[in-house]
Amino acid sequence: MVAVPSTVSTHIGDVTFKWSRRLLTISLWASCLLFGVYIVAFYFGAYLTDDMTRWNVVLPDLYRPGEPQGSFAMAAHFLCGAIILMLGAVQLISGLRNRWPRMHHNLGRVYIGASIVTAVGGLGYIAFVGTIGGFVMDVGFGLYGGLMLLAAVQALRYARARQIEQHQLWAWRLFALAIASWLYRMEYGLWLGLFGAQGHTATFDGPLDQVMAFFFYVPNLLIVEILYRARDQTPNVPVRLLASSSLVVTALVVAFATYQFARRIWIPGIGMA
Ligand code: HEM
Repeated sequence: MVAVPSTVSTHIGDVTFKWSRRLLTISLWASCLLFGVYIVAFYFGAYLTDDMTRWNVVLPDLYRPGEPQGSFAMAAHFLCGAIILMLGAVQLISGLRNRWPRMHHNLGRVYIGASIVTAVGGLGYIAFVGTIGGFVMDVGFGLYGGLMLLAAVQALRYARARQIEQHQLWAWRLFALAIASWLYRMEYGLWLGLFGAQGHTATFDGPLDQVMAFFFYVPNLLIVEILYRARDQTPNVPVRLLASSSLVVTALVVAFATYQFARRIWIPGIGMA
């Protein structure tokens, strides 16, 4: 057998890793983009046209007629949440950042402002109306909103102080939190597809719902911490190939789940607007 020189195998490892990362970024961004368009068209569109009973199609009681402050908080939450879903990947792509720094700064201000409004809107809704799932969901989502607020303020503070490494770390944490709202739907979709409604109730207070009130953002934050700490280590070729395969599998799962959501909920929802 002919031995493959180590520089060649390192090169193959690098290229595979680079392209698998790109594949995941593209599938994730396309999915977030479509989810964002759906939120603006379906939810924010319903607020603009005063047709808010439509909000209750997915989550019963999301719209409650006697709670105008809660509805306003939610409408702001939808618009800004969609903006951060659509912008997230653009801000983190290093090629775009390096080539157009001014664009990165301007979009960064929009991203951070929108994150703050999304979090405050969600927290306002919890305070005025309360979540459908009650205490545990209030705590899970309350903590989620608090963390998003903290990450947005810290990312801004470190950018202004030109402490780029700290800024990037907080920006990654903010991104992990922003895509969590998208992951929440994906994870529910996968669970319901694989195991049916086991552990889930219509009022979101079953055992699955109580775990999910935290599970959609805690693992993402842990992954950011692990990646950040491992950033200076160059993994060997087998580790790179293993990482590449998991990225490709994740990208395929994202593409499949996106196709199912788009076909059943997002595209019909955009059509209803
Ligand atoms: C990118 C960020 C976010 C997006 C795109 C987003 C989007 C949405 C959407 C579309 C809904 C409507 C229900 C559904 O379709 O499931 C919703 C509900 C909700 N969101 Fe968010 N959200 C985001 C972040 C947050 C944050 C940070 C909080 C934390 C305070 C939060 C709290 C809530 C609450 C409390 C509800 C109502 C749940 C209920 O009816 O009980 N969201 N969000």
